[in-house]
Amino acid sequence: MIHFDDVCYAYDGEPVLRHASFTIKKGETVVLRGPNGAGKSTLLRMLNGLIYPELGTYHFCDTKITADKMRDHCYSKWFHQQMGFVWQNPDAQLFCASVAEELAFGPEQMGLAPDEIACRVDDALELLGLARLRGRAPYTLSGGEKKKTAIASILTMNPSVWTFDEPLSALDEKAQAWLREFLQALKDAGKTLIIATHDASLSTLADRMLTIHADHSVELLS
Ligand SMILES: Nc1ncnc2c1ncn2[C@@H]1O[C@H](COP(=O)(O)OP(=O)(O)O)[C@@H](O)[C@H]1O
Ligand SMILES: [Mg+2]
Repeated sequence: MIHFDDVCYAYDGEPVLRHASFTIKKGETVVLRGPNGAGKSTLLRMLNGLIYPELGTYHFCDTKITADKMRDHCYSKWFHQQMGFVWQNPDAQLFCASVAEELAFGPEQMGLAPDEIACRVDDALELLGLARLRGRAPYTLSGGEKKKTAIASILTMNPSVWTFDEPLSALDEKAQAWLREFLQALKDAGKTLIIATHDASLSTLADRMLTIHADHSVELLS
C-alpha cells in the first residue's frame, strides 16, 4: 500500500532521510522510532504528500506521489481522504470557528451530502465525548480536548490510513490512556496506522517498528 524506494530528503543540503526503502501493507500498525531530529516528522509529512522525495520514489496504492500528482485536485482530494494526519500540535491543525465546523470541514471537502455530514459529525462527537463542546471555539479548549477534536476531524473522513506525530505528547495520564484505547480500536477496525512516538508503551501496538537512526538511515524491523 505504501512503498518507499531509496528515498532521500534534505533541508538546505542537510540530509534528513537517507536512502529509505520500505513497504507498509494495508492494515499494519507501524511504530516510528528515532532520536529527536532524526526525521520522524519529516517522514510523516512526506507520507501525507506535503513534501516529496528529492531522490527515489514514494508510491501510495501504486501511484507515484509527486508535486505534479498532488496538483491534480481530484487526486489530492482522494489522497487526503485516504490518509489522515494527526499533527503533534493540535493548534496547528484546528482553524475553524467551532468544534462542529472543524469536524464537518473534511466531509464538506469530500462533497458529501449535508445530512451525511451531519450524521458523521454527530457520531464522532458522541464517540469521542465531545458533544457538549460542539459549539466551542477550538482555541478555548484544553490540550486534551484539542487533541480529541483534531482526531474527530479526521474520523469524520474515515481514512484507511492514520498517521500520528507524537500522539501522547502534552496529554495527561487519563487522556493518554484514552488515546491508547482509541489507537487499539483503529487497529482492530483494520486501519493502517503509522505512529511516530518516543513512548515505549505504544510499541505493544506495533506489528513492525520503523526506526530512523541518528545518521538518518531508515530501517524497518519485523
Ligand atoms: N522546515 C524545516 N526546515 C529546515 N530544517 C528542518 C525543517 N523541519 C525539520 N528540520 C530539521 O530536520 C531534522 C529532522 O526533523 P524532524 O523531522 O522534525 O525530526 P523528528 O521528528 O524525528 O524529531 C532536524 O534537524 C530539524 O531541525
Ligand atoms: Mg517530530
